Amino acid sequence: QTTYTDKGEKPEKGKFVKFHHVTFWVGNAKQAAVFYCDKMGFEPVAYKGLETGSREVVSHVIKQDKILFVFESALNPGNEEMGEHLMKHGDGVKDISFQVEDIEFLIKVTKERGAVVVKEPWTEQDSHGKVKYAVVQTYGDTTHTLIEYLGPYKGLFLPGYNASVVKDSLLPKLPPGLLNFIDHIVGNQPDDAMVPVSDWYQNCLLFHRFWSIDDKQIHTQYSSLRSIVVTNYEETIKMPINEPAPGKKKSQIQEYCDYNGGPGVQHIALNTSDIIQTELKILVDFDDKGYLLQIFTKPVQDRPTLFLEVIQRHNHFGFGAGNFKSLFEAIEKDQDARGNLTAYN
Ligand SMILES: [Fe+2]
Repeated sequence: QTTYTDKGEKPEKGKFVKFHHVTFWVGNAKQAAVFYCDKMGFEPVAYKGLETGSREVVSHVIKQDKILFVFESALNPGNEEMGEHLMKHGDGVKDISFQVEDIEFLIKVTKERGAVVVKEPWTEQDSHGKVKYAVVQTYGDTTHTLIEYLGPYKGLFLPGYNASVVKDSLLPKLPPGLLNFIDHIVGNQPDDAMVPVSDWYQNCLLFHRFWSIDDKQIHTQYSSLRSIVVTNYEETIKMPINEPAPGKKKSQIQEYCDYNGGPGVQHIALNTSDIIQTELKILVDFDDKGYLLQIFTKPVQDRPTLFLEVIQRHNHFGFGAGNFKSLFEAIEKDQDARGNLTAYN
């Protein structure tokens, strides 16, 4: 593995502060939100839907400490954009949103450098405050919404949301969640797309390389992958970008791309300071300075696409390269059971 110390020049203006929230497009937002609450310790916080005047799309927002997930579904027949997305990708991540400073500057730079701006900057407000947004296209059908607070926002989530309508009597009986913030979000790419995608983050979002591994380092008996981690100047947002590499059998990254219909978010890693309480069968990776502990869920929907990671760090800023082999062997067992550990071609 390679770590990079050159952050490049500090951008003159504009700043990526942190992950703001992750938006999932799913077939049934209400049920998906409840699943994450019951299984992962989230709590319902905000809602937008017919009752709040949102006539086309319903949004259920759930929260755990600083982690915000938004589940969205179409309300009416014939929603082509959401319908086609669901048909192609199944349930999954549509948008990774970043809190930023100076949206206008960031959008100007990103456009000059060839990024596709899906939605030019616009402002929304309610009685709790005012927020500016813009949307840019990243890999596949995934987007990044940039969010800038124009003054303090006092509402539950963002303008236009009311309190959650989900009342789940099981929730108060469950132990509290121990997850604190989004540590990193990984995007899987098809063959030879990793470098162009990581270059896109460096050129268009002014990110820099943080860490990388190649297929000589990460492989099992059957398959291998390459990964480059890009991050913002302050290194508060980490985005590993993976691609499959040739092996004896089909790479799990390729299996993901086959079932996702192209590139997309492979996993979301959630940081905790108490992984022992969180789960068992923990993987450990370390160097002479520190260590990290991690555990991975199976895919969280029927397609073998998105899964989650829980990670605890002790002065260790890698991504578990020492665990990749055992993790990948476990995934390959499931891949084989799915009939997808087929010959590489
Ligand atoms: Fe990870």
